[in-house]
Amino acid sequence: MVNPLQTLSLADLRRRTSEKWRRYPPDVLPLWVAEMDVPLAEPVARALTEAVALGDTGYPVNGTDYTAALAGFARERWGWTPPVEQSALVPDVMLGVVEMLKLVTGPGDAVVINPPVYPPFFGFVWGGERRIVEARLSAEYRLDPDALERAFAEAVAGGRPAAYLLCSPHNPTGTVHTADELTMVIELADRYGVRVVVDEIHAPLVYPGAVFRPYLSMPGSERGLVLFSASKAWNLAGVKAAVAMAGPEAGADLARMPKVAGDGASHLGVIAHTAALRHGGPWLDEVLAGLDRNRRLLGDLLAELLPEVRYRVPEGTYLAWLDCRELALPEGAAGGPADPAEVFLERGRVAVVSGSLFGTGGAGYVRFNLAASPELITEAVRRMAAALR
Ligand SMILES: Cc1ncc(COP(=O)(O)O)c(C=O)c1O
Repeated sequence: MVNPLQTLSLADLRRRTSEKWRRYPPDVLPLWVAEMDVPLAEPVARALTEAVALGDTGYPVNGTDYTAALAGFARERWGWTPPVEQSALVPDVMLGVVEMLKLVTGPGDAVVINPPVYPPFFGFVWGGERRIVEARLSAEYRLDPDALERAFAEAVAGGRPAAYLLCSPHNPTGTVHTADELTMVIELADRYGVRVVVDEIHAPLVYPGAVFRPYLSMPGSERGLVLFSASKAWNLAGVKAAVAMAGPEAGADLARMPKVAGDGASHLGVIAHTAALRHGGPWLDEVLAGLDRNRRLLGDLLAELLPEVRYRVPEGTYLAWLDCRELALPEGAAGGPADPAEVFLERGRVAVVSGSLFGTGGAGYVRFNLAASPELITEAVRRMAAALR
């Protein structure tokens, strides 16, 4: 099979109308938002084409079909069977996160997150009228038990309910949490009475050497709530759908989710995602092989062209988190060094995401999207290096 990351030409990709390709002028190489430069997996394209030919564009069945499709994939890849009967369709992961937080906390209650983290975690938690308590990742980009314990203690102070929104695997660092780390989370959450909500959208995107552990497969996770979507791994963000799943002791919470919350999923989304989960495994493996090469290629390119940039090869996700604090950056508007993302954009015509959007610990970093052809990645790093000359 051809590497899906090398199938489409730059000219093809520029004809796309999605955000990745339309935000910046055509001389900019877009390596920012988490979309992949791949054609659709053939089984997904077929399922969508058949649905369109049939005019099968009505409402989705608001039930457990999606989780049933996930079950086969999860059994094969992770040796775990999701709780199909304790699951519900949601429009997408972030709206699902908001619904889960509403089930276990009230306005003004705290939600613990681990910055630097996916920027919408901040906006959606604030938008849901919850307050954020930060537990920063360690210098090695791992969960920090001491920071987590302090944050949990602060979150539940005064006897208030609190939640912990865990990103597993973690965006932007690509950290894949180990069984021991998840056990630590479970023990601390139990001790402090914090409810754990886990975003597992990047779960299928894990490289050899790391092992993804579904949160609900862990002993003691019975009160957990988890969100999953095939949208990242099969590049289906534009055909939205996702599922919420509850551990055995959280089923009653999930049952309180208003039915209308599930009505926002797209029927075409459910069709595409279920086809991906049922038949898209071989395609995913091809993409993962290409991404695995890209994550190493980026390391080689940086070592050669931008040796001051520090980069830990991600264990999962197609995101690379680059520490640019040692770069000789020009002075920014505020007096200190400029935001590296701005320098790369303005002088190099490469769009990456500014680390400052990821909260505490993100300033001076950029997030680089690896889901592109090796040629595009090579050209981008060359331009980034040239931008500093
Ligand atoms: C960790 C994480 N959660 C959620 C999302 C968005 O998912 P959705 O479009 O299903 O809300 C992303 C997108 O990149 C993500 O990285």
